[in-house]
Amino acid sequence: MTQPPVTPPSLAPRPVAPASPARSGPGGLPNVLAVASGKGGVGKTWFAITLSHALTRLGQRVLLFDGDLGLANVDIQLGLMPRHDLGNVIAGRLTLNQAALRYEAGGFDVVAGRSGSGSLANVPPSRLQLLMGDLETMANPYDKVLIDLGAGVERPVRLLAAQASTILVVTTDEPTALTDAYAFIKVTAHQRPGVDMRVVINSANSTREGERTYQTLLKACQGFLKISPPLAGIIRRDARVREAIRNQTSILIRSPNAEAAADVEAIASRLLQPAARQG
Ligand SMILES: Nc1ncnc2c1ncn2[C@@H]1O[C@H](COP(=O)(O)OP(=O)(O)OP(=O)(O)O)[C@@H](O)[C@H]1O
Ligand SMILES: [Mg+2]
Repeated sequence: MTQPPVTPPSLAPRPVAPASPARSGPGGLPNVLAVASGKGGVGKTWFAITLSHALTRLGQRVLLFDGDLGLANVDIQLGLMPRHDLGNVIAGRLTLNQAALRYEAGGFDVVAGRSGSGSLANVPPSRLQLLMGDLETMANPYDKVLIDLGAGVERPVRLLAAQASTILVVTTDEPTALTDAYAFIKVTAHQRPGVDMRVVINSANSTREGERTYQTLLKACQGFLKISPPLAGIIRRDARVREAIRNQTSILIRSPNAEAAADVEAIASRLLQPAARQG
């Protein structure tokens, strides 16, 4: 029996505000990775946490920076009660270093996002630039700094993403998620030609279906943008993801044998193998 065709997402271009990035060109800090998506709710935060934990287990010193400045939730997914968050840093009351805390159970450091203080769009650009400078200094002692970005391609998201030399674009197989992932890739490739962008397919029904979803996105990127972002990996849909989030624990602690946990661990291992980079 032949497989039903995968419905290609509507890839009509969407209007995007003009970019004014802190950096342009491939650039970015070599040890900084950003986790991005077009559409919200595709599993970025859970993935960023799990990847941070997996990289830590592989011996890396990791900082997870909650860059979803409007709707912070790394701390919530991990059950942390930060005394300080990015809100204090943006207000100029603390340095970024002072706002970091340790997620003891996972062995990595976290900068909590600012909760309940409205959109990052309200933060003056000069403040954002200061934050980027602080991030650059703070990133130094770590092997890997992961930035969990907010969804979309708004200017603050692009500014933060521009700090990263590698961008992991997360999508599911939903047509809207795929279309929005494509929009993110398009804007980023335009802003930073040659940047290392890789695709993560999350909540796949199976590895095979995930592969098909990736091919759909890849074909659009090749056809319209003339680029071929490689596949970072496929994460299977797994009820234990929700369960770990509900228990405010890393899945690598709660259900280390879960399929989704193994899939993220495989992505972490590949990220540390230079030979796996296809650029
Ligand atoms: N592999 C998976 N299997 C099953 N459920 C998943 C998987 N990945 C994510 N989820 C579900 O998706 C929900 C959203 O995840 P998460 O909050 O990490 O997304 P997000 O992209 O960070 O969202 P936002 O854009 O709002 O920040 C989770 O509550 C979880 O239940
Ligand atoms: Mg999130």
